[in-house]
Amino acid sequence: MELGTTWLGLPLKHPLIASASPLTGSVEAIRRVADAGASAVVLESLFEEQIDLEAMALDDLYHVGADSFAEVSSYFPETSRVYHRPEEYLDLVADARKAVDIPVIASLNGRTRGGWLDYAGKLEKAGAHALELNLYQLPHDARISGAEIERNYVEVVRTVKQAVGIPVAVKLSPFFTAPAHFLRQVAVEGGADGLVLFNRFYQPDFDPETLEIVPHLELSRSAEVRLPMTWIALLYGRVPADFGLTGGVANAQDAIKALLAGARVVAMASELLRHGPERIGQIVKDIQQWLVEREYRSLFEMIGSLSQKKAADPSALMRANYMKVLHSWHG
Ligand SMILES: Cc1cc2nc3c(=O)[nH]c(=O)nc-3n(C[C@H](O)[C@H](O)[C@H](O)COP(=O)(O)O)c2cc1C
Repeated sequence: MELGTTWLGLPLKHPLIASASPLTGSVEAIRRVADAGASAVVLESLFEEQIDLEAMALDDLYHVGADSFAEVSSYFPETSRVYHRPEEYLDLVADARKAVDIPVIASLNGRTRGGWLDYAGKLEKAGAHALELNLYQLPHDARISGAEIERNYVEVVRTVKQAVGIPVAVKLSPFFTAPAHFLRQVAVEGGADGLVLFNRFYQPDFDPETLEIVPHLELSRSAEVRLPMTWIALLYGRVPADFGLTGGVANAQDAIKALLAGARVVAMASELLRHGPERIGQIVKDIQQWLVEREYRSLFEMIGSLSQKKAADPSALMRANYMKVLHSWHG
């Protein structure tokens, strides 16, 4: 059974890749993920704020007392986790390339069209096979319109694409008024080779005891697959980019849904954090068994087969389904 797929033009032995997380933030961890059978690895992100902080720290040597330094450094919580300095991140990419024989995808995480984007070229030089650009902004400023935010994102993608020769995937949140139009722009005008749907939105929490706002990270659950699955199914074959699904994949059933929708890869974090990266082997086996039982000859035969473009009942993904769902409740 042929489980091979391609992602951003890179041939992969199967569709399960390790998404950016602490499991992909050091060479030892990356080696473990590769040994466990991941077909590619997305490194933990290098953040715009980390690059700015480094630049400001250097600048501070010459201009004492820059307020902005204090502001940027406040983004970084006091934890035991070590954040990579940008130069160290370049070493991580180079060392990961030497340590494993699967594609190494570097990850840049930010939101503005600033000097931090120079790191795209540096990551390519360090040896990254591809880049994942995670664009994440909480649009809290009531003076900035959705159109402005979208224009900025497309420009960020275009800037990166012009700076590098390696393929670029863009990871985005689902919170856009017209995701279909916007994602198409990211691919067509920005030049993104792949779209990774979706970034998770980590809401902070209130602690009623201490009256403090506290960070709160919950690992995902299988039910979360349905949001990216639906959008990939709607856009497969209609937006000229590869689709990758991230969010909620915990077993073979979840991964199979992603592939049926049209994803070429499934990027996993939570399930691997819960049970260790070795979980990948079992999920690959289960996908293989599913395909054999249904007499598929290759993975490509099933990718996108339940997308709106190919499904027997395209309306099942549209508003008609909304009414059906509401009327399907029998208490
Ligand atoms: C602890 C943790 C750290 C993460 N760090 C990053 C990161 O550095 N960059 C990034 O793009 N995504 C990061 N993610 C998001 C994951 O890569 C993934 O896209 C998301 O968790 C959805 O997949 P999942 O449901 O399999 O966890 C992180 C997720 C977790 C749980």
